[in-house]
Amino acid sequence: MARLDLADVGHSYVPDAAEERWALKPLRLTFEDARTYALVGPSGCGKSTLLGILSGLVTPSRGRVLFDGADVTDLPTKARNIAQVFQFPVIYRSMTVYDNLAFPLRCRRWDRARIDAKVRQVAEALDLGGRLRQQARRLTADDKQLISLGRGLVRDDVAALLMDEPLTTIDPQLKFTLRRKIREITEQFRPTVIYVTHDQYEAMSFAQELLVMDGGRVVQQGTPEQLFEAPSSTYVGWFIGSPPMNFLTVEHAREGLSLGGRPLAAAWDAPQVTARPQVGIRPEYVRIVTEPGANTFPARLRGVQDHGAQRVLEVDLAGQPVRAKVPREDGVPGVEEFLVHLPRTKILPYVDGRLATLP
Ligand SMILES: Nc1ncnc2c1ncn2[C@@H]1O[C@H](COP(=O)(O)OP(=O)(O)OP(=O)(O)O)[C@@H](O)[C@H]1O
Ligand SMILES: [Mg+2]
Repeated sequence: MARLDLADVGHSYVPDAAEERWALKPLRLTFEDARTYALVGPSGCGKSTLLGILSGLVTPSRGRVLFDGADVTDLPTKARNIAQVFQFPVIYRSMTVYDNLAFPLRCRRWDRARIDAKVRQVAEALDLGGRLRQQARRLTADDKQLISLGRGLVRDDVAALLMDEPLTTIDPQLKFTLRRKIREITEQFRPTVIYVTHDQYEAMSFAQELLVMDGGRVVQQGTPEQLFEAPSSTYVGWFIGSPPMNFLTVEHAREGLSLGGRPLAAAWDAPQVTARPQVGIRPEYVRIVTEPGANTFPARLRGVQDHGAQRVLEVDLAGQPVRAKVPREDGVPGVEEFLVHLPRTKILPYVDGRLATLP
């Protein structure tokens, strides 16, 4: 497996377009060896373009692509030793499961015994061991997708495993199992994985690092925890998390900040007086309380959403909407007016949509 570098890589599908309109704005990125990454972002943000540049499907308008330091920019897909899994499984329907997995190795002229050992090892990991003699066409959609994956993993020389929305066409009930299997085998075989999805939950549960994209740019890269705890912009706070992060407009007070005329304490110094600050707080950290105290604010209930083990309370705080995600056993406030507590250490400052100071 390999380390992949994008050195000043950008792409425009339209010739001579201004850089601002490129599908992928020039960027520098490194995907470390044996790590799993997810590219997330809304439709059209450039995820598949970035993946296509890594696989060789797209030749970038600018910059170089390096695999373990070697320039592969001008190499076609098949010379790059990458395994790909797409939305629709790519398998040979008329072949058995065994032959599907063995095929890439036969093409590489491995000897029989070596092929057999490798196919069985990968099939075992994928839970396909008992079905090696079955015709691939008889398998379910998720098993077919597993074979696509297995065909990538049998080869020892694979630089990276690139997946573009591999679970989109899979039945919701099977998605969970398939995601777990993909995770298990990537932990076992340790390839460098780059996984495209527009499903943030899938990305968070699968990858060690997420790259959040917006309009052809990677706007934040980090672990699921980093993206949850310190989104670098209101966009990331909104895109990652369910429900999204709350953002409240606050005022400058004589000392620090205020919200609805009451002081708001935070773990950082207030941004400059000229800036129009917002504060962000995750719904998971907003508390409904009965006792007044520091950072408690009167609020009114506007609505309740049921999220199974949790409830999302939609409240009005000083004329601004705030969501609180609370355990189901906490119940719903019985009174129309109650207090909301915003813990000091969980509040982050945003100016012009960007995180102002890291606490
Ligand atoms: N072959 C192409 N020719 C012209 N424009 C393209 C082509 N492929 C993608 N684009 C444009 O480039 C931009 C990025 O597209 P891309 O497919 O990379 O987005 P994506 O994040 O993968 O979206 P999705 O979630 O819908 O798959 C979009 O504006 C898209 O319309
Ligand atoms: Mg795409």
